[in-house]
Amino acid sequence: MTDRKLHRIYCVVGTRPNFVKIAPIVKALQARTECDLRLIHTGQHYDFWMDRVFFEELRIPEPDVNLKVGSGTGGEVVARVMLALQPLLVEARPDLMIVVGDVNSTVAAALTASYLRIPVAHVEAGLRSFDRGMPEEINRLVVDQVSDLHFVSERDGVANLTAERIAPERIKLVGNVMIDTLYACLDHAVPAKDCLCEIGASPAFRSAVATKGFGFATLHRPSNVDDPVSLAGLVDALVRLSSDLPIVFAVHPRTRANLVRFGLAERLASPHMLATDPLSYLRSLGLMREARVVTTDSGGVQEETTALGVPCVTVRENTERPVTIDEGTNTLVGSNPAALEAAVADVLRTGGKRGRVPKLWDGRAAERIVEEAIVFLDARRAAASQ
Ligand code: UD1
Repeated sequence: MTDRKLHRIYCVVGTRPNFVKIAPIVKALQARTECDLRLIHTGQHYDFWMDRVFFEELRIPEPDVNLKVGSGTGGEVVARVMLALQPLLVEARPDLMIVVGDVNSTVAAALTASYLRIPVAHVEAGLRSFDRGMPEEINRLVVDQVSDLHFVSERDGVANLTAERIAPERIKLVGNVMIDTLYACLDHAVPAKDCLCEIGASPAFRSAVATKGFGFATLHRPSNVDDPVSLAGLVDALVRLSSDLPIVFAVHPRTRANLVRFGLAERLASPHMLATDPLSYLRSLGLMREARVVTTDSGGVQEETTALGVPCVTVRENTERPVTIDEGTNTLVGSNPAALEAAVADVLRTGGKRGRVPKLWDGRAAERIVEEAIVFLDARRAAASQ
């Protein structure tokens, strides 16, 4: 095959959830000889446990370029990514830019490509919380407006894009790449008892887990963790819950920094509360799979628990992933600590929602994405040569 026939595709990632989403797409692109892939890492996430470990566990190839933009305010990150990415795109002029999810790196890459008239494909298009207080919602709206191809993970996404007047032929309901990764990794997930040893659980904690099981918690949304009163209320609720159910709390760097800043870190010192650094994908998957309940404010965890059939209590007023509530195991409780406690108690009493796995969450979304991307690129090439 000559170079002329190759479709040159750039994928941009920057944060932990991006890595989980891009892994199956990279694999599916590498399986197609007509695709020439370049992987760009913006460097928005950079700690070993937020970044490197995901590349290793998910066997994502080394990025071709790391822009090393680091963290900052939304405006700072977006501006730095755009400044660093533009010269690369001007020189390379890829045929397609694939972006995933809703983080600041996603919107920066989509905008940069779009200004240069490079087509953009958005994976996880159409999700809406209808809450512009979340930076991710602004990012979703902007990315979808400038994208040429919209790969949608759940049916509400199609309705949202249609309502925003995105042309139907650009909208492709393909399923959920995060669940592709989950199925690909389930056999390699770290069993909970091994994980508890690896992260330093005390013998007393492990013996409580052996009799009562455990809950798994994550929290990192600015609305929950950037305000001292909200964070204190949620931490206290988790600690109270831990007296009935031992809790493993994987603490995001944003949350860790705020716990220290607000003087709240000591409140986590409780015998059945295990606060740990962010966990690798295979550890977190292993814990989620065996947990009696998961409490979170993450988007991806709502989906992963639905795929695993594990009850999830989401500490948010809204979700951009309604299928996890309508069909899956998710329950929204808002940010009120009492509601969180009541919902977890309810799961422990009843076993929680059983749910079913949504349509097309079958482990093959990335293959469908790559197939559609090639059809799109072939059509553009044919049109250009006429
Ligand atoms: C970002 C995403 C969020 C995603 C989350 C997953 C946006 C708007 N938000 O939020 O949607 O769910 O990632 O983790 O893009 N930090 C480190 N090491 C790191 C990364 C971050 O210490 O490797 C610290 C930095 O001090 C930073 C804080 O964490 O100030 C927040 O990082 P940032 O990238 O701004 O956003 P997240 O809260 O991680």
